[in-house]
Amino acid sequence: MKKIAVMTSGGDAPGMNAAIRAVVRSGIHFGYEVYGIQHGFKGLCEGDINILERNDVSRIINRGGTILGSARYEEFKQLAVREKAVQKLKDMEIEAIIVIGGDGTYRGAQTLTDMGIKCIGIPGTIDNDISSTDYTIGFYTALQTAVESIDRLKDTSMSHQRCSVVEVMGRNCGDLALYAGIAGGSEFIITPETGFDKIRFLKQLKESHETGRRHAIVVLTENITSPHELARDIEKHSGYETRATVLGHVQRGGDPVAFDRVLATEMGEYAVELINNGFGGKAVGLKGMDLVDYDLAFALNKKREIPNKRYGLIGRLK
Ligand code: F6P
Repeated sequence: MKKIAVMTSGGDAPGMNAAIRAVVRSGIHFGYEVYGIQHGFKGLCEGDINILERNDVSRIINRGGTILGSARYEEFKQLAVREKAVQKLKDMEIEAIIVIGGDGTYRGAQTLTDMGIKCIGIPGTIDNDISSTDYTIGFYTALQTAVESIDRLKDTSMSHQRCSVVEVMGRNCGDLALYAGIAGGSEFIITPETGFDKIRFLKQLKESHETGRRHAIVVLTENITSPHELARDIEKHSGYETRATVLGHVQRGGDPVAFDRVLATEMGEYAVELINNGFGGKAVGLKGMDLVDYDLAFALNKKREIPNKRYGLIGRLK
């Protein structure tokens, strides 16, 4: 019987389980024996690989996290470690693997492809920072979590006439902050794409306070500036009493929203179809309403399109 395997790697994202389920079920449909690799590339090297039957993926479409576990495994950059992984796959006669994760995962898959292993990448990360897809699995769930938090912060900020600085994840991508800022009706967003001119920003907040606005929500992408320091600066220079909140890993958990379940299911099946049609070294993506695939190397080097129109909205509607 032909054998394929599936793994999740890097930061987990809601919807990964739905993708695993789709891979297993459509793999079985196409006549494959499907294996689950535990904890990403680490489990691959250690041979932590088990068969997944139809019922092993029952009742997981609605569950956050990943039943396969995930890991960041720097050692995979070493050739000797990768050679071990390739040998494991050969020993088990696994002909292709589907990897679900972010850009680090794609890089791992590319190196395995270069060593003759058929790999298909499915974009799973809350950051939405994979340029070969409009949306990544997990982004919409994390966004929903961030928006619900902003709604709550808005309630208390209004009651106390305060400014709230909310730091969201995204690594180096501002999409979570941008979409959460729009959906949460925030006054300001600061992302890698907008850049951050502190003096100009504080001046704008001061003007806003002086014109009688009594509360403000500032959504900030992580890794730009300390939200706590920023809150202190806002208090000092703008007149707003200010509090900072870091949403952190809360954004990574929770049951996936319907959009992520559907996207993950479609992508999982598409990935198996690619393998069944003899392809490897591909990344699955969503373009508009359609699923597409690109060479992994192309996907890794593709430039991200920045949603400039959406950035304009925040300034016009505040
Ligand atoms: O890539 C997903 C992500 O949650 C980023 O938003 C964040 O910067 C990073 O992972 C956190 O990584 P870790 O879980 O290893 O702390």
